[in-house]
Amino acid sequence: AHPPVADLVAVARDVALAAGRLVHDGRPETVDVASTKSSAVDVVTAMDLASEDLVRRMLARLRPDDGILGEEGGHRPGTSGVTWVVDPIDGTVNYLYGLPAYAVSVAAVVGEPTPATWTALAGCVHAPATGETWTAGRGLGAHLGGRRLTLGAAPSLDRCLVGTGFGYVAERRRSQARVLAELLPRVRDVRRMGAAALDLCQVAGGRLDLYYERGLQPWDLAAGALVVTEAGGVVTGLRGAAAGAAMTVAGAADRVAELVEVLEEQAADAPDAPGAD
Ligand code: IPD
Repeated sequence: AHPPVADLVAVARDVALAAGRLVHDGRPETVDVASTKSSAVDVVTAMDLASEDLVRRMLARLRPDDGILGEEGGHRPGTSGVTWVVDPIDGTVNYLYGLPAYAVSVAAVVGEPTPATWTALAGCVHAPATGETWTAGRGLGAHLGGRRLTLGAAPSLDRCLVGTGFGYVAERRRSQARVLAELLPRVRDVRRMGAAALDLCQVAGGRLDLYYERGLQPWDLAAGALVVTEAGGVVTGLRGAAAGAAMTVAGAADRVAELVEVLEEQAADAPDAPGAD
């Protein structure tokens, strides 16, 4: 037995809003990306750590028996069966450059905290620079602010606006670029907005028809994937696998099936050269 889903949604929201305020207010007016690359990156790393620290302290107070899996601090198991899966800043490169597409992502899951084994109960993705907040609760639907999200009928694949993202390692990007070269002529257009959690939320709200990415970590997708499924969409991997590091595809079921077919045909999940992860 887990606590009421609505309570977990409220906690996810409170925590994401507090961390969002911290990272938004804490970003210096100007970060000199060009001339002080490493110190600029340090600013981001410091905010990432401060954000996760705040999330861990809040959750320790609000939900002391739950576990936490965070991008920065790793996994601390709990005793309640609930684990919080946290990305303290998703879209760190956008944050570094002052682009608004970054977010705090907080989800509560039960079961082993991996995308293939967990059941997500609650999630919140909050983008402090735009003030948008997506929430989802298992069985309670997905919301953007006060508005309930429902995936509409997607256009045919050649009319779809497709979001994607790339890893940080050159060899992985080489194979991602090959897949993209095959896909781009077959769709309306492609967006690479730079924050996986937000990409998933944009699918749920109809601002993207489809999204796919290889190499996502649990904290990139935990909350956003629940937002998509609670809006009536599907989030899956290739060849019948669950969504996760090998591949994540999200959207309305029939269009996802079409995109999955293209990605399978392109072997978009084939291993990269050694060292690519
Ligand atoms: C990254 C962003 C990006 C995606 C990368 C992620 P981070 O997360 O979500 O859009 O393409 O795969 O690693 O590093 O900014 O938390």
